[in-house]
Amino acid sequence: MQFHCVSLSNAAQHTRGFRKTATAMTTTLNINGRRMAVDADPSTPILWALRDKLQLNGTKFGCGAALCGACTVHLDGQAIRACVTPISAVGPHQRITTIEAVADDKVGKAVQTAWVQHDVAQCGYCQSGQIMSATALLQQNKKPTDADIDAAMSGNVCRCGTYVRIRAAIHDAAKALA
Ligand code: FES
Ligand code: FES
Repeated sequence: MQFHCVSLSNAAQHTRGFRKTATAMTTTLNINGRRMAVDADPSTPILWALRDKLQLNGTKFGCGAALCGACTVHLDGQAIRACVTPISAVGPHQRITTIEAVADDKVGKAVQTAWVQHDVAQCGYCQSGQIMSATALLQQNKKPTDADIDAAMSGNVCRCGTYVRIRAAIHDAAKALA
């Protein structure tokens, strides 16, 4: 029996859907407090600008369809799915924050610290997206209830089932920030 392997890179290119029709333009984005030029088709999702053009690989590719949350970044403090948000949708004064810089913010730092204390990660693949969503939640809600946490985190899937530790870590981060 013969098996055909599709690399993540190839799968990603199919998901992107612009492989053969791409027209490169330079788009300047504010990422993690720095202005960065990206030469890519304007329809390129933020995820691939980060990973392929800027080597910011902390943001992960999961589903490519806004269904898993692995690619979560912040756009002006709001958690968004980078896999379905094209770089053309980002305004010149809007700020993208990725996992690489989340700890520059005191809320993000508290979330990361709580994540370590609770040993939240298992395989780790979903965790940058989880941390970005948790940080956006605590930036907007200083004392979330379990229901608030479940609602805010419901789009972030963890195949390892770390949900109980995620919830505990968010409560502890909130306490540390109070
Ligand atoms: S990769 Fe973006 S939501 Fe799954
Ligand atoms: S820690 Fe493995 S998928 Fe979430």
